[in-house]
Amino acid sequence: MGQRVAHLLVVHAAELVTLAGPPGPRAGAAQSQLAIVEDGAVAIGADGRIIAVGPTAHVRDEVTLAPDALVLDAHGRTVLPGFVDPHTHAVFAGDRVAEFEQRLAGADYLAILAAGGGILQTVRATRAASFDDLFTRADHVLDRMLLAGTTALEIKTGYGLNTETELKQLRVIAQLAQQRPQAIVGTLLAAHAVPPEFHGDPDAYVDVVCTETIPAAATLGIARFCDVFCEAGVFSVEQARRVLEVGLRYGLRPKLHAEQKHHLGGAQLAATLGAISADHLEYAEDTDLVAMRDAGVIAVLLPGAAFFLREQRHAPARRMVELGVPVALGTDFNPGSSPIWSMSLAIGLACLEQGLTPAEAIVAATINAAYAIGLGESHGSLEPGKYGNLVILDAPSYRYLPYYFGAPLVDTVVLNGQVVVQEGRLCR
Ligand code: NIG
Ligand code: FE
Repeated sequence: MGQRVAHLLVVHAAELVTLAGPPGPRAGAAQSQLAIVEDGAVAIGADGRIIAVGPTAHVRDEVTLAPDALVLDAHGRTVLPGFVDPHTHAVFAGDRVAEFEQRLAGADYLAILAAGGGILQTVRATRAASFDDLFTRADHVLDRMLLAGTTALEIKTGYGLNTETELKQLRVIAQLAQQRPQAIVGTLLAAHAVPPEFHGDPDAYVDVVCTETIPAAATLGIARFCDVFCEAGVFSVEQARRVLEVGLRYGLRPKLHAEQKHHLGGAQLAATLGAISADHLEYAEDTDLVAMRDAGVIAVLLPGAAFFLREQRHAPARRMVELGVPVALGTDFNPGSSPIWSMSLAIGLACLEQGLTPAEAIVAATINAAYAIGLGESHGSLEPGKYGNLVILDAPSYRYLPYYFGAPLVDTVVLNGQVVVQEGRLCR
């Protein structure tokens, strides 16, 4: 051997968490299988892809170092695949700090929305914002995410609620995908709320989404998925079905905001339509989970939103694992229900609030998150052929991620074989 040329070599990781395993999202017993190598090494080639993974001595034998190769010693540290955030609303203008304080004083999230605030406030700001302003804000958010170890993510529209602004958001997502180092997948969430122009007539807005926004978005070719906020007072199961079926006809695979504040039937709809994921799921019941499992729908937990909304009810994460539903984990980064961009924080909350074990949460935040946005074949684990995306933690085991809750343990981030974060700082 010795023919493959490494341009970046990470050696002597106390714990190399590879997540190597059979293709497909991990469920049940496999939800906690991390495939850890002690004294582990990863070699990445000139094309940014992983060429070898294993014990340091083996990997050193298997590869030749390029003359300018960089060797990182991860002695005493943990190496993980880069985090994948499968659910974000990262393109918007303004913030909702005033609404946050109203909620702390007792105001209800859905009542604020019904009164024309909440999501609709962000819609007003996003409609008024220029393309460049939206891009600059999101670019900054994605820097913060990179510092926190997120190397691939999904971004939704949903703060336009008219065709023009939804497409503006999609174009921002496309430019981010072009200019950012992270892998970015777009989702059309035109049915995120009923816009003020259609107040009291959600069906008329659904008509616009189905006949105008989805066709126009499909022509742009940026979004891969179509999502709906299926919730009491927002979009019903029937309205969600209409939108998602039209999305399917235009090649957009369904995703759903389901059972977040009420048990409505979104999870069952996700199963019926073969959605790639159903997200939130605080109010999901066993029958929903069984239907999702049988249809191959991934459950995306968003504990940041539940925590930030001070939701009393937790998503039934333990039942998901017991019943064999693959569980993924995201931040739900958005200005209203989850201004949280750190996957480490999501991992901590998934353990503390929803009852996942640290190992289950790591699988959820990497390989299963990658499958939840269609990137499972190329991202989410450290295996030959996949992108050379990894994080090095300033801790000797992945177990410290939820334990040092919310601490910035990510010291180094490697993206496509390039060091992009070192000693907790962005490399420019
Ligand atoms: O995932 N639930 C609906 N959508 C977002 C919140 C968006 C917002 O409040 O701006 C969520 O929680
Ligand atoms: Fe969301």
